[in-house]
Amino acid sequence: MVKIAPSILAGDFLHLEKDIKMVNEHADLLHFDVMDGSLVPNISFGFPIMEAVAPVIRIPMDVHLMIINPDKYIERFAKAGASLVSFHLEAADEAGKDASEYIALAHSCGVKAGLAIDPDVPVERLFPYIDQVDFFLIMSVFAGFGGQKFIEESVGRIATLKAEMDRRGIVKDIEVDGGVSLSNARTLIEAGATMLVAGSSVFKAADPAQAIAGMRL
Ligand code: DX5
Ligand code: ZN
Repeated sequence: MVKIAPSILAGDFLHLEKDIKMVNEHADLLHFDVMDGSLVPNISFGFPIMEAVAPVIRIPMDVHLMIINPDKYIERFAKAGASLVSFHLEAADEAGKDASEYIALAHSCGVKAGLAIDPDVPVERLFPYIDQVDFFLIMSVFAGFGGQKFIEESVGRIATLKAEMDRRGIVKDIEVDGGVSLSNARTLIEAGATMLVAGSSVFKAADPAQAIAGMRL
């Protein structure tokens, strides 16, 4: 069964409680987009929002770190209540580190580790980490902003990753993030996605609960 992870980046920050109640009732995970203005050209939010949400959220918090040097902060996000933490392979490249270090660190903090890539990173670069991660995050827009148009080539990238996992007989989650909506959910699930992040298509919908339900089909 696919998991739906609404991205609170598209939520109503003046009335967050309303959005949290909705996701508690209807979604599987709550996705937090943390941006530092360095790895990506935008700044979003960090610990204060997570810490405010933590006492009232009843579904796992899925933190997507679009930041350089994620190893400096993984432990703090774990302590702030994250159950899943993803970080970018590009961040490891920039630091001259192996992403395996970040994965091991996340595990030592008791959270599920996800490795993310932007649309211009060859999906084959994820293959060495299939054994290590709990999930992969395939960006279907360039990380940095909500509300962008879905990049169609992402479907083939998910299928390629899924085929490699099948070949090795390994089952790991594949999360897809960016421009996900009712119009592409089915295609993404058929390609192998098991977690759908959806910001605008949930929170800007007239009926967010119905938008979530529709993507499960
Ligand atoms: C983009 C973020 C996404 C984004 C999704 O950098 O990682 O999670 O918030 O928003 P939509 O669904 O509006 O593309
Ligand atoms: Zn995200």
